Amino acid sequence: MNSSFHPFSLSCRKYGKFKKDIEKYLKAMSGRGGELMLETGKVRTPIILVNFKTYAEATGENAVKLAEMAEKVSIETGICIGVAPQFVDISIIAKKVSIPVFAQHIDPIGYGSYTGHVLPESVKYAGAVGTLINHSERRLKLADIDAAVSRAREVELISVVCTNNTPVSASAAALKPDMIAVEPPELIGTGIPVSKAKPEVVTSTVEAVKRVNPDVIVLCGAGITNGDDVAAAIRLGTRGVLVASGIVRAKNPYKVMLEFAEAILKA
Ligand code: G3P
Repeated sequence: MNSSFHPFSLSCRKYGKFKKDIEKYLKAMSGRGGELMLETGKVRTPIILVNFKTYAEATGENAVKLAEMAEKVSIETGICIGVAPQFVDISIIAKKVSIPVFAQHIDPIGYGSYTGHVLPESVKYAGAVGTLINHSERRLKLADIDAAVSRAREVELISVVCTNNTPVSASAAALKPDMIAVEPPELIGTGIPVSKAKPEVVTSTVEAVKRVNPDVIVLCGAGITNGDDVAAAIRLGTRGVLVASGIVRAKNPYKVMLEFAEAILKA
């Protein structure tokens, strides 16, 4: 086993009910760089990154409960699950759970006179290890994406730049973010999975990003609802998914996250 693998998976290997799946997964990944550990230490791929948006089911106390469920699934399966709550919930969630916490946005600004902006340093101090940038619901100009990625790098936040298609993904890759999450906006929140409805967008993004900057990790999102959608995303060459409503609005988010994680173990 690769020594950089997260301690979660060590305990899972011994005690988890998914022992066989985890061992099979570790064997398959051995020597393939599958246990990629980014410098901040907590984020691994494959990753399930759950965007809490501003859903009532993921606000305040509900956000904490959802993050705790995500942590439980991560511990049980060894799969990395990150959460992206609203800004005001970052601090309490980061104190309560050991899984990676992301901000939903940062502004490309520094200390000073920027009333109402989101300072990257504040996000970091609150306990986030990374941030989404340019989410479809919080778009930025190209120059601002570039500046936000640089600010994220400066304060050591993992940057996940969201993109809407392949050409934009290729442009974003040139900015050297840590990850790109391609999400066709028309599929967001529909329950129609990008990995099945538009597989060509995913594969062409994976290829284009690889050509521009092979170090950038590609995720995909929009409409991801069940384990099959996640397995399809992995088979198309991504290193995970960015997901919101399929988990946050599910009757039983724990069960859905477990299904997602199992799908990765079996993919
Ligand atoms: O950031 C995730 C996102 O925009 C996709 O949303 O609800 O289709 O999973 P959803």
